Amino acid sequence: MSEIKNKAPVIIGCDHGGFRLKKFIKEFLDQEEIPYTDIGCDSEEIVRYPYYAAEVARRIRSGEFVRGILICSTGVGMSIVANRYPGIRASVVADHYTAMMTRQHNDSNVLCLGGRTIGEFQAIDILKAWLDNEYIGGRHEISLGLLRDVEKEMCKQ
Ligand code: RB5
Repeated sequence: MSEIKNKAPVIIGCDHGGFRLKKFIKEFLDQEEIPYTDIGCDSEEIVRYPYYAAEVARRIRSGEFVRGILICSTGVGMSIVANRYPGIRASVVADHYTAMMTRQHNDSNVLCLGGRTIGEFQAIDILKAWLDNEYIGGRHEISLGLLRDVEKEMCKQ
């Protein structure tokens, strides 16, 4: 039985450190009938995470997708790259509470996971919370407005 209500398509990418966890996550997405586009990588052979993070970030910025998942060994490298793109709010998450909060308060649009830092079932618990929590706006809109100001300032340089 399906657990996730929000079936918006997801773009998903990983490097070698995230490949195994990505496979597990894709099985969950299949089970939940959540459509996804997998942009690679396709094995545990060493690749460079910035390529995958950049593609996911670009395709969310273009409006093709509203949300994405990036997995490397720790989630950190992916988040550093993705967060360089204006409009991308990528969150490295390793617990349920942060997964909920980063959707509700930060309107996170990219979930970064560590293939070597969290277990498979923990990852699914985080993913469920991230997929099905909505941005609540209100006072958090002030912070997101300030974030947009920072992006504008940086884009001028
Ligand atoms: C690759 O060894 C590793 O650096 C990468 O997966 C990622 O965790 C970087 O943050």
